[in-house]
Order: sequence, then C-alpha cells, then structure tokens
Amino acid sequence: MMRHLYTGALMPAIGLGTFGSDSVSADAIAAAVKGAAEVGYRHFDCASVYGNEDRIGAALRQIMDGGVPREELWIASKLWNDKHAEDDVIPSCRKSLADLQLDYLDVYFVHWPFPNFHPPGCDVESRSPNAQPYIHENFMRTWRKMEELVDLGLARHIGASNMTIPKLELLLRDARIKPAVNEMELHPHFQQPELFAWVRAHGIEPGGYCPLGSPNRPARDRTPQDTVDIEDPVIVEIAGRLGVHPAVVCIKWAVQRGQTPIPLSTKRSHYQANFEGLQSDPLTDEDMRRIAAIDRNCRLIKGQVFLWKKDQSWEDLWDLDGVIKS
Ligand SMILES: NC(=O)c1ccc[n+]([C@@H]2O[C@H](COP(=O)([O-])OP(=O)(O)OC[C@H]3O[C@@H](n4cnc5c(N)ncnc54)[C@H](OP(=O)(O)O)[C@@H]3O)[C@@H](O)[C@H]2O)c1
Repeated sequence: MMRHLYTGALMPAIGLGTFGSDSVSADAIAAAVKGAAEVGYRHFDCASVYGNEDRIGAALRQIMDGGVPREELWIASKLWNDKHAEDDVIPSCRKSLADLQLDYLDVYFVHWPFPNFHPPGCDVESRSPNAQPYIHENFMRTWRKMEELVDLGLARHIGASNMTIPKLELLLRDARIKPAVNEMELHPHFQQPELFAWVRAHGIEPGGYCPLGSPNRPARDRTPQDTVDIEDPVIVEIAGRLGVHPAVVCIKWAVQRGQTPIPLSTKRSHYQANFEGLQSDPLTDEDMRRIAAIDRNCRLIKGQVFLWKKDQSWEDLWDLDGVIKS
C-alpha cells in the first residue's frame, strides 16, 4: 500500500526502522535491511545519529545491484541536533548520501526541533551546557537550508519530526516548501489523536515511530509509568483470534488508521510477519474501535536530554497547553 504525498509522490505505507540503539550492531541492522528488501520492504527509515548509514549503504547497493530500481525505494535520513547551523545542513545531508551510496534522499527530516547536542547513548539526566528552547527564527534558518536541499535535488521531500501543533503552525506559516511527512511517536497506547488529525488535515503524512511501543528499548528510555502495547488485553485478544503476534496487530492498526509505521526488527520471521500482516484481511471496524479506546497517552520517548533549564519537566518539550515554552 502507498501513501500519496502532497507532491504527488508515493511513499510505501510501511518502512523498516534502523535504530539499533545500544543493543543491535550496524552490521545486524544492515543485514535486516537486505533481508527486509527480499521479503518486500521498499521503505527504510535511516538517520545519521544511528551510526550505521555506511553499513546500510552497502546493503542498499546490493539491493539495487540485485535488480531493485532506485525509484522503487523510499529512503529517509535525518539531520542531527548538533547540525542545525546553516553551514552544517547541506554537508550533513551530503554525508548521509555518501554513506548511503545514494544521489538523493526521498525525505530528509530535521530529527528534533531542538538544536541541543547530546552524545548517543547518554543518560536521561545528561544536559547540554548550550541547551536552548525552540527558537522559531533559528529553526527557520535551518529550514531554509532544508528547502535548498530540495532545490539542489539532494532531497525529494523534507520533513519534520518530534514537532507539536504550535511549532508546525509556525513552520507552515513561514515555509516555502512545507514538510511532506511528520515523523512522530505513534502506537496504540500513544495515539496522539489531535496532532495526528492536524497533520493529515494539513496535507502532511504522519510517520509513526515506535509502532510496537519499542519493547526492547534501553533502560534509560523507561519509566515505571510506561505501559506495554503488545501486552494490552485488547491487542492480545485480537492477535489470538487472528493467530498472529500482537506486534502484527499494532502494524495492521497503524496502516489502517492512516499512519506509516516504521517497525524495527532484525529477525526475519518478525519483519516478514509485520510486512505480510498487511496482505491479510484488514482489522474489523469493531477491532479499530476497540484499539482506539485503549489509548493511554503514554509517551515513551520523552526527550529529557533536550531540556534547557533546571527544574523542568519533559512535558515542557511538548507544548501541552498549546504554547511553545521559552
Ligand atoms: N524520529 C525519531 O525521533 C525516532 C525516534 C525513535 C525511533 N525512530 C525510528 O522508529 C523505528 C522504530 O522504533 P523502535 O525501533 O524504537 O521501536 P518498535 O519498532 O516499536 O519496536 C522494535 C522492537 O520490536 C521487536 N519486534 C519487531 N517486530 C516484532 C514481531 N513481529 N514480534 C515480536 N517482536 C517484534 C524488535 O525486536 P526483534 O529485532 O527481536 O524482532 C524490536 O526490538 C526506529 O528503528 C527508528 O528508525 C525515530
């Protein structure tokens, strides 16, 4: 299944995530990319900060040498937070392109709206000494360079990630080229109904990260309040009826609801099941209604490392009362 972007381009409605975090090596991710292409995936969600784009590039080369044309692939990458400076945007994109062995990206995201550096794998208590809040004028300087990437033909589309409605409103007001995709956390226990509806109403495709509730995420990304989507009784019951793993129900729900999930797996049986689940009968309207009702507003990727002042709470990053915190 394909998503129609506002430019007329088609984006495959499921992609493979490639963030191995602390536990999965770059080579294991690259092997999963190659295997996933064999079972039918054409969409790969990459990022420079995942530290594996050069290995994925070698896998993509093999996939294309094996007969999959470049035009059939949908490759995303992302600008990391320490590269928001005007002079850094185009070189960062070129570096990802060189690593991925590509001439162009299908979409290049600004990974986070905050320009704060923190090293990969750092603890949630870690804070950048130069941390800043969202400053729209600065973000637009970065975005102008993102737009230039489209002009240069290095990115066919540009996208935003980890945004909120107030931030997106400003971006749409001031952008010459609007984001085609907004990558956001989306899973049954974190459905973000307002933001989801808003981006769709504005012709932006919602990309859904952590679509399974990231069950193997590292301890630093866990809090005692977090809930587990694939153990939810409704998901488990539907999975039992269909004879599939609860993960497959999360993916079917995501695609049917209208977002583009990017589940990660390095196990062939898992990524194959996630992909093939979309070829069987859709979930019933009753299933969709029941899953809509299990939203717990449980954000897993809270972004604590982006906080810029003492005594702040991670909620301050997400503009919950509709106002951008400064
Ligand atoms: N834009 C952003 O800021 C942002 C933030 C976070 C993530 N992302 C992207 O979103 C992608 C997905 O998020 P995520 O990797 O955190 O979480 P996820 O896709 O929700 O969950 C991935 C985990 O689920 C397991 N899994 C997958 N399919 C399964 C199946 N059929 N049965 C049982 N277990 C299964 C995998 O383990 P196995 O390998 O053992 O199958 C893997 O550890 C990332 O890889 C990354 O590309 C983007």
